[in-house]
Amino acid sequence: MSTPSRDVDVKTMLQEVAAHPVPEYARKFYYCFGGLTFLTFVIQVLTGILLAVYYKPTPEAAYESVKFITDEVALGAVVRSVHRICSNLMVVLVILHMLRVIYTGSYKRPRQFNWVVGVTLLLLTLGFCFTGYLLIWDQVGYWAAVIGTQIMGSVPVVGDTLLNLAQAGSKVSGYTLTRFYALHIAVLPVVTIVFLVIHFIMVRKQGISGGL
Ligand code: HEM
Repeated sequence: MSTPSRDVDVKTMLQEVAAHPVPEYARKFYYCFGGLTFLTFVIQVLTGILLAVYYKPTPEAAYESVKFITDEVALGAVVRSVHRICSNLMVVLVILHMLRVIYTGSYKRPRQFNWVVGVTLLLLTLGFCFTGYLLIWDQVGYWAAVIGTQIMGSVPVVGDTLLNLAQAGSKVSGYTLTRFYALHIAVLPVVTIVFLVIHFIMVRKQGISGGL
């Protein structure tokens, strides 16, 4: 008895996804924001990989390596600008997507769990911005990290623990830079991809809501 090959399974799966019709009501312009948010995330991953080729996550070398990327590396300034612009764009788009979900009442039963997954994705998106800002290791990024981590420290009961965890010590230092770098390029991307897969599987299973 022959078993179907892996190739055939993937092909069938892709064909099924491509052939899945978009319902008429979901063709309004405000339904595009989720997809556009995903597109900016993909651009961030690709430009982030390129930046990581030259970036050095140490207090001595970080600022100079960013300067090197901007001034010396071929198309480095372009890649950096795209990464910076798309980081802002992603925040705007994810908020527009969230507003669409509120406008069409798509957060209601049976999609309440996907709303919670979405809120986590929003926090992860903001986490990328917060951790990325420090990586340039200039005055603006440094003091933004000081303020951000101090805000964490003001959380009742667990504040001190959060502050220590985020700063990797009692103040923002080279250890904070390494910690933020690990979060920015490894932890946050992996967690985001896991949550995106859950988000998309649920959209696929429940279908896009009709809303209005
Ligand atoms: C990285 C961030 C996110 C990406 C890439 C993303 C992507 C998507 C995509 C492609 C869809 C399919 C429908 C559409 O495009 O509108 C969708 C649906 C949905 N999203 Fe998101 N999303 C993100 C964040 C969020 C956030 C922050 C929320 C809310 C707090 C949210 C809640 C939902 C809900 C409830 C649905 C189902 C809507 C329906 O069935 O009409 N998502 N998302």
